[in-house]
Amino acid sequence: MLAGLAQEFKARFGRAPVFGARAPGRVNLIGEHTDYNEGLVLPCAIDRDTLAVVAPRTDARVRAFSRERGEEGSFEATDLRRAGDWLDYVRGAWFALCDAGFPVRGFDVAIASDVPPESGLSSSAALGLALVTAVDGCLELGLDAALRARLAHRGESGFVGVACGIMDPFASSLGRRDCALRIDCRSLEVRPVPLPGSRLRLLIAHSGVTRPLLGSGYGERREQCRRGLAAAVAAGVAPEGATALRDLGPERLPALERALDPLLFRRVRHVVSENERVEAVCAALAAGDLEAAGARLRDGMRSLREDFEVSTPELDALCEIADARPGVYGSRLTGAGFGGCSVHLVAAGAAEEVARDIAAGFERRFGRRPPVHAAVAADGAAALPL
Ligand code: GLA
Repeated sequence: MLAGLAQEFKARFGRAPVFGARAPGRVNLIGEHTDYNEGLVLPCAIDRDTLAVVAPRTDARVRAFSRERGEEGSFEATDLRRAGDWLDYVRGAWFALCDAGFPVRGFDVAIASDVPPESGLSSSAALGLALVTAVDGCLELGLDAALRARLAHRGESGFVGVACGIMDPFASSLGRRDCALRIDCRSLEVRPVPLPGSRLRLLIAHSGVTRPLLGSGYGERREQCRRGLAAAVAAGVAPEGATALRDLGPERLPALERALDPLLFRRVRHVVSENERVEAVCAALAAGDLEAAGARLRDGMRSLREDFEVSTPELDALCEIADARPGVYGSRLTGAGFGGCSVHLVAAGAAEEVARDIAAGFERRFGRRPPVHAAVAADGAAALPL
């Protein structure tokens, strides 16, 4: 993909790119809708990448070409305004860099990606991070991986206007081969959790329903979490000084149930129990107990379906079909929900057969065959030699 993209850059801009970077998509194993509640998540970077190749210009013009879109656009780095198109993601990276005190000017940029868009695999964070990583490398800004992740997040949330959390850029930036990452979204502490690669496969199945985060029920869920916390504080059932749902432990659930309206209670219960599940899955993986890890994924799926209400019939079906197969430890939707992908923890020896069974079972119900593939936990974003 890299050599082809560099060729394309040359054909389009009449010179060779001078720097390249890759940033992976991610799959979240457990810890959904917890990042913006300052809780815990357990994603891993996957072997699907967005690539960016760049060369600086002497003026302030940024010209960007997207191979997947077959489109080129441009803007002035000194006049960053949101336009509501895909280039906003590129503008967002420039905005974040400039805003953080790195006055980045003109560049020619070409990007390509095999992270499926709008599928809950974090294609937008991968794009922002690939751009920040390429510009950082090219201009030798010396940013570390956590800062690059924060800048990618700032571009998407502060400029594009998607109220996403920090999980995706952190996973994409700090991913570690053969590991998931336990990320504490309050302290931003990141701990690699080794996956038993020889015994375990991660399957990802696509429900065929895509959903941009902007305009999905995502913002509404965030708002409900905010209201849930406010109601808990007002009713005196949150601990002293609580500033996020992260501060509410499971021992408070009975009091919360009495104090909150039923819908807000269910949203809160999801977040509180999901933080517990992240710790439980980390412990199960450390002990090599894949059955226990899988059981918590299934609990998480139930909670997303019934308490947080972000599943769809297609995602329910993918998980139900998979969980009925021998060799499947557990399944759940991954990412925000409302469409996108499911993730399945599967015994290594059963993975091929399970992938076929998921696709066939889904096709019988929905009349179309979903893509199902094995993902490998991969290293995070990096500069690429050209
Ligand atoms: C999207 C967001 C993340 C996170 C998940 C839900 O992927 O980008 O920040 O909130 O949804 O866990």
